[in-house]
Amino acid sequence: MILPIYTYGHPVLRKPTENISSDYPELPSLIKNMFDTMYHADGIGLAAPQIGLAIRLLVIDLAPLKEDDPDLGTFKVVMINPTMLEMSEEEEEASEGCLSIPGISEKVKRSEWIKIKYLDEQFNEHTEEFEGFKARVVQHEYDHLEGSLFTDHINPLRRQLIKSRLTNIVKGKATCDYKIKTA
Ligand code: NI
Repeated sequence: MILPIYTYGHPVLRKPTENISSDYPELPSLIKNMFDTMYHADGIGLAAPQIGLAIRLLVIDLAPLKEDDPDLGTFKVVMINPTMLEMSEEEEEASEGCLSIPGISEKVKRSEWIKIKYLDEQFNEHTEEFEGFKARVVQHEYDHLEGSLFTDHINPLRRQLIKSRLTNIVKGKATCDYKIKTA
């Protein structure tokens, strides 16, 4: 089932998120719905607050990148209750977008590598290190669980330049070809 994506300005995107347990109601179908919603919107990552749930759950599938980079193309992951353990001081800058902020992309500095602990769909614990683009996507989605958006990371001048477009999103004037839910 394809769910509406909550957009910039909706309070759920800023709400603290809670850990879930394995008896969370209909978790397998929730995870499937998140993937379906993400694929439908041509996204590569989606976090639970983006579908209106303030819980610590995110999904990523970099399959659309497989022609450019086969290693990235096989990266598909569900992270439940993730905790960031380490982030490199070295940063890299690259352009990012977000399904909750349609039509806007900006350069964002992110740590080059990270170490993160999470549970998979079967609630098995993993501790993994990621670098480069994988690290970037994980940081972006993890940020959603911390109530943070990529626009929080851009410099004040750039933020000023996109202010009116962000205001349009808040007012529900954004146009995109997937279902959205504004505040
Ligand atoms: Ni996002």
